[in-house]
Amino acid sequence: MDRYVVRPGARLAGTVRAAGMTKNAGLKQMAAALLAPGTSTLRNVTSVVDLKTMIELLSAIGAETTWVADDAVAIEVSEQLVAEAPYELVSRMRASINVLGPLLARTGAARVAMPGGDNIGNRKLDMHFAALEAMGVELAVVHGFIDARCNALGGTRAMLEFPSVGATETILTAAVLAKGSTVIENAAREPEIRDLAMFLSEMGARIEGAGTSTVEIEGVDELFPAEHSVVGDRVEAGTLLIAAASAGGDVTVEGIELADLEMVARKLDEMGAEVSRTPDGVRVRRDERLHATDIQTLPFPGFATDFMPLAVAALTTADGSAIVTENIFDNRFAFVDELNRMGADVRTEGRHAVVRGVERLSGAPVRAHDVRAGAALVLAGLTAEGETTVLDPHHVERGYADLPGKLCALGADVRRA
Ligand code: EPU
Repeated sequence: MDRYVVRPGARLAGTVRAAGMTKNAGLKQMAAALLAPGTSTLRNVTSVVDLKTMIELLSAIGAETTWVADDAVAIEVSEQLVAEAPYELVSRMRASINVLGPLLARTGAARVAMPGGDNIGNRKLDMHFAALEAMGVELAVVHGFIDARCNALGGTRAMLEFPSVGATETILTAAVLAKGSTVIENAAREPEIRDLAMFLSEMGARIEGAGTSTVEIEGVDELFPAEHSVVGDRVEAGTLLIAAASAGGDVTVEGIELADLEMVARKLDEMGAEVSRTPDGVRVRRDERLHATDIQTLPFPGFATDFMPLAVAALTTADGSAIVTENIFDNRFAFVDELNRMGADVRTEGRHAVVRGVERLSGAPVRAHDVRAGAALVLAGLTAEGETTVLDPHHVERGYADLPGKLCALGADVRRA
């Protein structure tokens, strides 16, 4: 059975470069490339499992992807698209929903399988739907498919109930080719939104305010293929920095902005690690045992939900107790049972977890339930006594191109078996 084998080791030390943010930014941009016939190129992408799924999906729709360098893909988008995203692909990867906006904008129709819930909670699409309807789309969910069509997309004022990353992306990618202007209020402010808007602007879109709560889009008649370098992966970078704080050491991650990781830096600082900006990245140093600190997840610039499992892993051996509150997803604590199998003391109640720090975890066989939970178990294994095996590493590989390799480059002992 596939697994990661993690052995505790020395402090982590050295410098690594963050990969491009493929899963949560690059894939969305590949879907956005559908907006313009011709060949768009995305640089700074990595070969994560979800990228392969996106390549299959785009191929089914009418766009062929080829690797043109170690870290660059070219997406050749045809004039005629097949406006359907099959369940087999959508069920493997929720980012498939990102073809909905571009397909409606290009073809006036889209048939996209409903993704359903997943391991971290029920993930609704009501805000995507309401905004598209306000833009003139007729939409129904029939036999497990979103059946959407429109004569022409029109601009709208979309006031989001919650700053949803996915809904902001859907509206953006529909509005760029709509007639008239669209305003998104309470838009998601994640760096990935800023990066998507940058790519769309390079394609000829007119967007202002991306990365703030109010995004204004003036629809244009057509877009053109473009070339873009995807933003550095703040989640991979944060994973490595939390690993260094947790295992102890002195690690620099390059190719990342401290501003994109500010709340993680603040929490690591409260826990007793020293975080500083370097000319091209972020450095973390930690010698003493970490102290516990309370954490609650919030939309950007708050503490991202994707870091929560990693932070819980670090808190399991910190000095003191912490309350961790998950405000974004309703079922993101399943992984704590795995940490408890390693001797952690974590209790959950609804959206809260109480983490009581123990002296040391003990290595055990554990199972990854999702991408970040799997990474958290690897981090826990770095400080546990004895060997930890993390089963189902494919979950981790959906988002991290080579987490063992990156950790080994810093002196850790993690291998895929
Ligand atoms: N929501 C609704 N209605 C909607 C849309 C969202 O109720 O129409 C709710 C969801 O149910 C959820 C919350 O709003 O409880 C947040 O959802 P959001 O749309 O912001 O997230 P997402 O687009 O589904 C992306 C990332 C997640 C990341 C979140 C939050 C991708 C592929 N996924 O999901 O990444 O946690 O934003 O930042 O970009 C991960 O990488 O491990 C991961 C889960």
